[in-house]
Amino acid sequence: MKSPPRRGAPEASREPAVGAAPRYHIETWGCQMNVHDSEKLASGLERDGYVRAEGVADADVVLLNTCAIREKAEEKVFSALGRLRGWKDAVPGRVLGVCGCVAQQSGPAIFRRAPHVDLVVGPRAASSIPGAVRSARGSGAPARFLDLEQRTDSLSFPFDEIRREGLGSGKAFVTIIEGCNHRCTYCVVPRTRGAEICRPMTDVLAEVRSLAGSGIVEVEFLGQTVNAYRDAEGHPLGDLLRSAAEVPGIARLRFTTSHPAQMTDRLMDAMRDARPTVCPYLHLPVQSGSSTVLRTMRRGYDREGYLAKIDGLRRRIPVMSFGTDVIVGFPTETEADFQETDRLLDEVGFDVVYSFAYSERAGTRAVELGDTVETRVKFARLARVQEHQIAIQERRNREWIGRTVPILIEGPSQRGDSQWTGRTAENRIVHFPGPDRAGRILDVRVTDATALSLRGERIGSHA
Ligand code: SAH
Ligand code: SF4
Ligand code: F3S
Repeated sequence: MKSPPRRGAPEASREPAVGAAPRYHIETWGCQMNVHDSEKLASGLERDGYVRAEGVADADVVLLNTCAIREKAEEKVFSALGRLRGWKDAVPGRVLGVCGCVAQQSGPAIFRRAPHVDLVVGPRAASSIPGAVRSARGSGAPARFLDLEQRTDSLSFPFDEIRREGLGSGKAFVTIIEGCNHRCTYCVVPRTRGAEICRPMTDVLAEVRSLAGSGIVEVEFLGQTVNAYRDAEGHPLGDLLRSAAEVPGIARLRFTTSHPAQMTDRLMDAMRDARPTVCPYLHLPVQSGSSTVLRTMRRGYDREGYLAKIDGLRRRIPVMSFGTDVIVGFPTETEADFQETDRLLDEVGFDVVYSFAYSERAGTRAVELGDTVETRVKFARLARVQEHQIAIQERRNREWIGRTVPILIEGPSQRGDSQWTGRTAENRIVHFPGPDRAGRILDVRVTDATALSLRGERIGSHA
């Protein structure tokens, strides 16, 4: 049952009463690591007595947790900053901070482009934010606080204090490795997130047990190169998966993002052995189907090497779903190179593909190659990949019609009808007739499918 709307509440709360707790608002762009970092930022402020605002209008502190992966992502941050100028100037003492990867990438240049910004704090310096906000609010003067240090203890946040958005839907993120030691020639992440550091496995398992105790059924381990995980005692990701799969109450484990070059036989064995808790879905970014382009990207594998990894997983786990990322229009990419990427989509039969037009990033090695592929050609290739993949996805989704699958219920469908949504272990979205309760596992029989989702009818629920 939906609760009746609290009439007037949002308007009333835009005028905080004198002496009321100060309010924060965080806007998040980018990957799951950023989403999870925002949960930690929120916890840091709440520890200091802040409460969550309804939005920008009633906030005393606004933090933008930003992404620098492509130019467009970065532009969005600067246009948001432009829109926030009025908010900032309207009331003295308001604090505006830029955190995340754009903070690290652009540093003090942000103060020059947007002088109304008070704090610029890199992703691995986020622990300094509560203190910086406190002194900015205390002095009432523009703070100009800059911290871009890439701390090696950036993952030792007290996990019991994290304000988790997914509690109601039974899901939680756990960052197990931060940073990246690869040097893909197009990518800013090694600069923005620094060198890899891994959390001790005992610490991660303690967090997983604590999450299970608070009703979490699905844990997703996070890292830019999550399968490079190896703690100081030498435990690789496979060991962590095997141990976490034994934690009572944890029904599903996922991990993202894996690098193909580090997809070892040992890890594949662990995925097989820790079934069904380890989900039969893997996001394995290929970037290009052309070995020539992969070499120029410095990915550390070629087309055949990538296909061998997919094959190794399918031999161990026959019903396995795969997602990938593709960059089109990388410098030097020819029509023939592109066609190899296009053909790879069929060869693998991906279940989801995130495709991007190459975006030149300052400070990366690929800048030396020039941005050689014409914009028009880049976007035409992007459209071809997307159109092709939609057809593949529809075909692959239709193979599920008639099967009964357990789904983890997420909540009412965004479409606003009486449908609810859940996800299969293979990461497919299923719409089914509601209402129900988010965070529990339900069996549904798949009755229909489109390229983007399945439709199902309820069969029963798990204990
Ligand atoms: N760590 C992950 C990638 C994280 S970035 C990995 O190694 O696969 C997410 C995706 O953004 C990448 O997989 C890539 O497809 C895309 N991307 C990264 N840099 C890009 C750039 N300069 N232009 C376009 N897409 C880019
Ligand atoms: Fe970027 Fe490559 Fe590291 Fe992924 S592995 S974050 S693409 S440098
Ligand atoms: Fe973006 Fe930084 Fe994640 S650049 S993709 S937010 S690591």
